[in-house]
This record gives sequence, structure tokens and C-alpha cells, in this order.
Amino acid sequence: MEIEVSSCEHLMYVSEIQQEMYDSAQRRGTGIAKRSIEYLSKKISEGNAVVATENGEWVGFCYIETWSHGQFVANSGLIVSPKFRNRGVATLIKNRVFQLSREKYPTAKVFGLTTGLAVMKINSDLGYKPVIYSELTQDEEFWNGCKNCVNYEILMMKERKNCLCTAMLFVPDNKIDKEAENIQSKEKESSEVSRAEEKSAEELPLIMNNNKKNTDEKESSLSV
Ligand SMILES: CC(C)(COP(=O)(O)OP(=O)(O)OC[C@H]1O[C@@H](n2cnc3c(N)ncnc32)[C@H](O)[C@@H]1OP(=O)(O)O)[C@@H](O)C(=O)NCCC(=O)NCCS
Repeated sequence: MEIEVSSCEHLMYVSEIQQEMYDSAQRRGTGIAKRSIEYLSKKISEGNAVVATENGEWVGFCYIETWSHGQFVANSGLIVSPKFRNRGVATLIKNRVFQLSREKYPTAKVFGLTTGLAVMKINSDLGYKPVIYSELTQDEEFWNGCKNCVNYEILMMKERKNCLCTAMLFVPDNKIDKEAENIQSKEKESSEVSRAEEKSAEELPLIMNNNKKNTDEKESSLSV
């Protein structure tokens, strides 16, 4: 089996991928964000997807989407052809698409929304953690994708804070480092301010003493 970053060579599978996405969603009784042939073709030809094949037959697929001007990345549309399921294919595809996302967007947080146990397991192994929706992208366009879901009313009723999908988020180390760096520099700034305050509090009696001394000297020189 081959697991490859997509290219124009894989455009021949796009109809089959779109059809299987639709059929699987119907079988699961869930809605999905609508993916047109044009949209999927663009992902494939731009190299923003991973395709699994075996002897020229399509096996599986997943693609990358970016949100909030590249601050967030989602690995979406994971699908494995029914006859190839339960053989670890989704795990291999997700691993490859995750690696590709990290290469292309090293500072982006990677997230996913899912009701599927398989995806939850795979995401956990990759280091994703469950989070509430406010931790995800707030990009309107992303949330508009939920409009085709049968649970959209629930999402809106809950003011987009939660719904039936579990939200999972991977925060890259460099993001944690950057956030830690920000906290550290804020702490440094505030400790410098308080040190300066302490210093001026320490110096105040000295200044006052010096002033008094000067006044005394002036007074004594005047009296001479
Ligand atoms: C979900 C899907 C992608 C899984 O593909 P797969 O190739 O069969 O998955 P894998 O064999 O790599 O399995 C990964 C893990 O999930 C488990 N798993 C697979 N299918 C499962 C299922 N239907 N229910 C519960 N667990 C499942 C596996 O046992 C494995 O767990 P393990 O690592 O503890 O052994 C595939 O069933 C599919 O295409 N479904 C329809 C589309 C879909 O639901 N996409 C996800 C949208 S969020």
C-alpha cells in the first residue's frame, strides 16, 4: 500500500472519494461539511492532502485546511474505503497528514471535531487533548461548515460552546514555548517594575537625609 502526499496524479480518484464521504455520512446518520469536487480537487492538486492507494485502487484520504490566517490547522475529511477498514489505514493516513501539517505550518495548533472513536484514539496517540470549543478557531467560515450537520441546531442552542462532537487540540511545543516566553517576559517586566519601586522606596530616606544634610549645611554656612 502507498500513502502519499497528493498531487495531480490522484485527481482520478476525486469522484470516488466524494461519493464515499457522502455515503459514509448517510450510513452514520450525521451531516458533514459539504465538499465539492472542485474543492477536493484543489486540495489534491495543491499537495494539501494525503492519499492511500493499493495497486492503483483508491484506499483512503484526508486533507489539510487552515483557519484564522494559519493559526489553526484541521486535518479533515478522513475517509477509508469500506473494504480496507480495520487494518490500520486511517492511522497511517492521519499520521502522514499530521506530519505534513506540522511541516507546512509548524507553529499552528492542530484541531479536529469528531464523534468517532477511531479518530479520537488516533488523535490521542498523536498528542491531541480534548478541549472546549472556545479553544478552537473562531473563524466564521469554519463554523459555517457545521450548517450541513444534523446537529447544527444543538450547536447554535449551546451558543457554539459545545455540541455532540468532541473537540481535540494539539498545541505544538514551540507554541507552548512562545506562550511561556510571553508569560516569562511579562513576569520579568513586572518584577523589574517592583524592583524599581523597591529601589526608589529604599533610596527615598537617603535622598531625604541628603536633602536635610544639604539644608543643614546651607543653614550652617549661612550662620557663619
Ligand atoms: C473512521 C475510519 C476512518 C477508520 O478507518 P480505519 O482504517 O478502519 O481505522 P484504523 O484501522 O486505523 O483504526 C484506528 C483505531 O480505531 C479503532 N476503530 C476503527 N474503526 C472503529 C469503529 N468504527 N469504532 C470504534 N473503533 C474503531 C481501531 O480498532 C483502532 O484502534 P486501536 O489503535 O486501539 O487498535 C473509517 O471507518 C471510515 O472511513 N469511516 C467513515 C468516515 C468517518 O467516520 N470519518 C471520520 C470522520 S471524523
